[in-house]
Amino acid sequence: MKQARIILDKDYKIGRIDPRIYGSFIEHLGRAVYGGIYEPAHPLADEQGFRKDVLEMVRRLQVPVVRYPGGNFVSGFNWEDSVGPDRPKRLDLAWFTTETNAVGLHEFADWAKKADTEIMYAVNLGTRGPENARDIVEYANHPGGSKFSDMRIANGAQDPFGIKLWCLGNEMDGPWQMGHKNAFEYGRVANESAKMMKWVDPSIELVACGSSASDMPTFGDWELTMLDECYDNIDYVSLHRYYGNPTNDTPGFLARSMDLDDFIHSVVAICDAVKGKKHSKKQLNLSFDEWNVWYHSNEQDQEIVKREKWGKALPLLEDVYNFEDALLVGSMLMTLLRNSDRVKIACLAQLVNVIAPIMTRNGGGCWAQTIFYPFMHASRYGRGTALQAIVDTPVYDCIDYENVPLIDTAATQADDGSVTVFCVNRDMTDDFCLDLDLRSFGKMKLSEHILLHHDDVKAVNTEEDPMNVVPVSGPAGQVSSGHAEVKLPALSWNVIRFEPVMK
Ligand code: AHR
Repeated sequence: MKQARIILDKDYKIGRIDPRIYGSFIEHLGRAVYGGIYEPAHPLADEQGFRKDVLEMVRRLQVPVVRYPGGNFVSGFNWEDSVGPDRPKRLDLAWFTTETNAVGLHEFADWAKKADTEIMYAVNLGTRGPENARDIVEYANHPGGSKFSDMRIANGAQDPFGIKLWCLGNEMDGPWQMGHKNAFEYGRVANESAKMMKWVDPSIELVACGSSASDMPTFGDWELTMLDECYDNIDYVSLHRYYGNPTNDTPGFLARSMDLDDFIHSVVAICDAVKGKKHSKKQLNLSFDEWNVWYHSNEQDQEIVKREKWGKALPLLEDVYNFEDALLVGSMLMTLLRNSDRVKIACLAQLVNVIAPIMTRNGGGCWAQTIFYPFMHASRYGRGTALQAIVDTPVYDCIDYENVPLIDTAATQADDGSVTVFCVNRDMTDDFCLDLDLRSFGKMKLSEHILLHHDDVKAVNTEEDPMNVVPVSGPAGQVSSGHAEVKLPALSWNVIRFEPVMK
């Protein structure tokens, strides 16, 4: 069996983990809202039309924040259409469908409460600008006595929604975006919007649009230029990244998290360069507010839109995730954890039906895709303090990367003293014997080894077979004199949990 070694020490710390790195995203796109979280005719719908089975699954993921209402959708969205009794139907030019506006801000705020989550609200800086951004903050957060706050009260919400986190538009660097801007234009609009939004409610935090992917030709220059304009008035820079495996190269696909890591380091460096240039004392952090695997549904989506243009709640972006996708999602989560000193917010895109861990059938069941499990494990056990693991592992080379660790890892310590080690074994054929050196934690017991593995990397979960790829108990490990020995099967996601032994 191959060997790897990890040294953990309670004093080797990366920093506190902001729980918001386990955020997610719901866009008015496809069946995320209509047929996803909301389906009034479903037998399990509650009195407001929200599916209780979906709510239950969302709560299992313990998602602290959900980005809403887009995405590309938001760049043509008029928030006023989604509140009050008059809900106009609109053509959505982002996805070439029709938006009914049946669900809007009030309904989503109610859903968020039921899902135990907070809203991260994106304003439209595509077709609209600072004035509307100011108005929606007044509508959502001002107690009363002004035009928009009184409008909210008249629409049934006496108390402000108290939304603390706001996105200044979406992917404004992308030519596909309605109202696309160059970096200078965006930086100016973001700055003026930010000033006005914070004048209405100084307690809010703002995320400015960074690049929509690390391979955008404007990446780097976009961040430098736009930050030069808005650095002082924003709090986070966004990053977005999706990966796919269209050439069926599993080792290369599993190495994609190396790109995520490089992307994060580059954006941190740019933020700090602008900080230096401005002689600023303020540090900007990152909001990785769209990340996932996305490629399975691309061709199908083109057909659907060709056939049913301007349809409602079309089944768009319904990627069916396989086992190797779950492994990459695990590695992406660990990359976020290893960078949690600067990544304070992250949103798995998205949450229900649209490139999502949770799937539904209209009128039918609700089930967990393969990627549901690594996300749930990280969200539940990857809280507290991120630890700096020292890893000794064999490596491999693939088309885009050299020296890819065969054992990918991240470790955390919860406030109750328990330690969790996450590992992906990227080896296609070989199991690993992992030696974990827990030198400074005192007496620990191995409380659990959760294992996600399937012999077929293309295995999926479906409504008919929802338990095909599910976590099981891993092979029994041993702990003695501050060392644990654990077996990591070839191609596997592992969650190894230790608890302090009380004397
Ligand atoms: O999440 C799907 C889409 O991906 C979002 O609407 C957009 O922001 C990104 O390009």
